[in-house]
Amino acid sequence: MSRQDAEACTFIIFGVTGNLARNKLLPALYRLQQAGRLPAQMKIVGFGRRDWTTDSWRAQLEREIRQRESNGFDSETFAALAARLHYFRGDLAEPASYQALHAELGSGPLCSGNMIFYMAIPPSNYAAVSSSLAAAGLNSEANGWKRLVIEKPFGYDLESAQTLEAKIHQHFSEPQIFRIDHYLGKGMVQNVLVFRFANLMLEPLWNRNYIDHVQITHAETRGIEDRAGYYDHTGAMRDMIQSHLLQMLTLVAMEPPPNMDAESLRDEKVKVLKSIRPIARNAVNAHAFRAQYARGAVDGQEVCGYLEEEGVAANSVTETYAFLKVYIDNWRWRNIPFYLRTGKRMARQSSMICIRFKHPPQQLFRQTAIDKLEPNWILLEIQPNECLRMEMQVKEPGLELRTHTTRLDASYCGISDYGIGAYEALLLDVIENDRSLFLRYDEIRLAWELIDPILKAWATESDHIQPYRAGSWGPEQDLRLFDREDQYWRNTLEG
Ligand code: BG6
Repeated sequence: MSRQDAEACTFIIFGVTGNLARNKLLPALYRLQQAGRLPAQMKIVGFGRRDWTTDSWRAQLEREIRQRESNGFDSETFAALAARLHYFRGDLAEPASYQALHAELGSGPLCSGNMIFYMAIPPSNYAAVSSSLAAAGLNSEANGWKRLVIEKPFGYDLESAQTLEAKIHQHFSEPQIFRIDHYLGKGMVQNVLVFRFANLMLEPLWNRNYIDHVQITHAETRGIEDRAGYYDHTGAMRDMIQSHLLQMLTLVAMEPPPNMDAESLRDEKVKVLKSIRPIARNAVNAHAFRAQYARGAVDGQEVCGYLEEEGVAANSVTETYAFLKVYIDNWRWRNIPFYLRTGKRMARQSSMICIRFKHPPQQLFRQTAIDKLEPNWILLEIQPNECLRMEMQVKEPGLELRTHTTRLDASYCGISDYGIGAYEALLLDVIENDRSLFLRYDEIRLAWELIDPILKAWATESDHIQPYRAGSWGPEQDLRLFDREDQYWRNTLEG
């Protein structure tokens, strides 16, 4: 079944032979096909430089999706998806390729007037591709809408982000631009808003009077895979914290928006980013820490260190682990630390938002057998499972007054059965023109303003970076950035 009501369009993927298109976009389109959510007349054009044909692309994609969906591959779904595919051989740097693309899109079965251009290409090409599209007339909305989807990182620092923004705006208007942060498409990340604003009981507690601190962790067991070319010039702070982790922070910290309109939501996120206390260059070491993985073992397998990865400069000090501590100077959060960290080659795959509450004001149980009361936590696990857990203290059965921590799990804790991932949700939003989960430029600018001083300070310290063993939970030195000794990382739901 296909959505008959959504408008016909052509979805053009630049960089279709690359990592992002193969691992995320095309599998997401397959699942949307399976869920019957793609418009009936939608076509998918893969723009790539390789000497492929539509048939060879289809065959290759079928192999990849079969492998990925080993239990649930559905030939009928794939056939319906394959019928939409069309490979276009072109060179991103060649103006003639865009003219030829325009000619091809303007006639025959691909002709619909409505087009989505998805930049699954290195960020250094975004500006050039958008002006080449315009030079070929492919930004004109005279015969249908045109949407441009831009992946993160949006720029390399504040200055380059500003330049990129200006260049893209020369040819595309704001309603045409979709700046994607795929974390906002994840079910549990969206659940932060539902959890906070659909439950009255939490709101009175959600502030500096009751919350001790907030932690946001994204840990991966993966290394940099085949992305050294991108990663070695980027590092964990730019790759994850400037975008995904700061976005999650805005959802945890924001005020309720007046409604769920895209602009209302984004206004509230921007207010949070504007309230973050700036980190001065001379305060960088008290707020940020970086490290790089050395040899070790992950899931019982020996793995090499970052410097031994193919394509990484031998003396690279690029961080594969980053920690950032921020304070939000507003009425709700003043002086409450938000700890953000991310790392590759860590002990476990784990993305979580952990909120720790303060201790009760009175030590009522001091004279009893209870020697230490644990604080309450709210844990939102984003992946690998989706889970929402509260930890509370209750009395142990028996004659003694003793406590233990009990865990209240939302009923759907576990791997989501829906099979709908972040990209599925976001691609559908682009097709249906819903911009609420896409970033406005001011969010990106404010995030760069915050981390630019850190990146600048780190750029001057190019002779050393702290190592951590692959397969560990990262360097222990970062613990000194916690405000108090009784604050520590929660690595997993269990501890
Ligand atoms: C990407 C980063 O944006 O997010 C990668 O560039 C990272 O380095 C990835 O691995 C993590 O996303 P997910 O959805 O796999 O958790």
